[in-house]
Amino acid sequence: ASTLGAAAAQSGRYFGTAISSGRLGDSAYTTIASREFTMVTAENEMKIDATEPNRGQFSFTSGDRVYNWAVQNGKRVRGHTLAWHSQQPGWMQSLSGSALRQAMIDHINGVMGHYKGKIYAWDVVNEAYADSGGGRRDSNLQRTGNDWIEVAFRTARAADPAAKLCYNDYNIDNWTWAKTQGVYNMVRDFKARGVPIDCVGLQSHFNGNSPYNSNYRTTIQSFAALGVDVQITELDIQGGSATTYANVVGDCLAVPRCAGISVWGVRDSDSWLGAGAAPLLFDGNGNKKPAYTAVLNVL
Ligand code: XIL
Repeated sequence: ASTLGAAAAQSGRYFGTAISSGRLGDSAYTTIASREFTMVTAENEMKIDATEPNRGQFSFTSGDRVYNWAVQNGKRVRGHTLAWHSQQPGWMQSLSGSALRQAMIDHINGVMGHYKGKIYAWDVVNEAYADSGGGRRDSNLQRTGNDWIEVAFRTARAADPAAKLCYNDYNIDNWTWAKTQGVYNMVRDFKARGVPIDCVGLQSHFNGNSPYNSNYRTTIQSFAALGVDVQITELDIQGGSATTYANVVGDCLAVPRCAGISVWGVRDSDSWLGAGAAPLLFDGNGNKKPAYTAVLNVL
């Protein structure tokens, strides 16, 4: 196969990217994105601040722009994200307790209702675990009660039974890290108690402080063994090592329930980390990097 999407499809997987609505007028960007990828995640446009800027007033203009571009170009869409401590609108930041809990529920229903039946998988809850210690991150959502995550997932299942429901986080790639074990234990508990969860998203932002480790395959295998899909949701590798990209893809391919891989941007110049990080598969001129060829060869 000669594109990432077609190569991934040979094993029944997808290869996706984050798409930014502000770049859809850039034909160099859309040419690559349309050609190479089979799954789209809106980089910011389906987040809480974008979709519910005022309480009870939903806005889907930018989200729909990304969604429609994806579908018109034959791609599926991952929804990102419904319950998160970050990128909350001001009105939500100032809520707490039962009012915030209800606002979270209403938000999930409002956004999932709009996109009902149209989304492959939703990141229902994003980044709920603390960076160290293996416990929950302190946040206004966490302070509504420890059950907020399962409430979010139960609400999401009822709102759109067709969407896969994912828990998504960073630094849960290294199997030996306490954060990974914390999320693993939560997923195991959810499966044991019948809380609806279908997938774990490994963001996989790799850099000097959180480098790729060869136990990544163990992490993917271990989550999959709990009975959930694993999706690599926001892959970028600072420095863009071709070898590391090949290792990541090889680890996904080794696990049948690793359903697909998405990178967090098209060209280095599109990366949230800045072009200098050179973390993606295309350079700023849209040329394929060595990492691109490495990925294509492994797929
Ligand atoms: C980032 C976007 O790429 C930036 O444009 C934005 O300013 C901040 O958020 N984890 C996530 C993503 O789940 O939503 C984040 O995206 C990157 C880290």
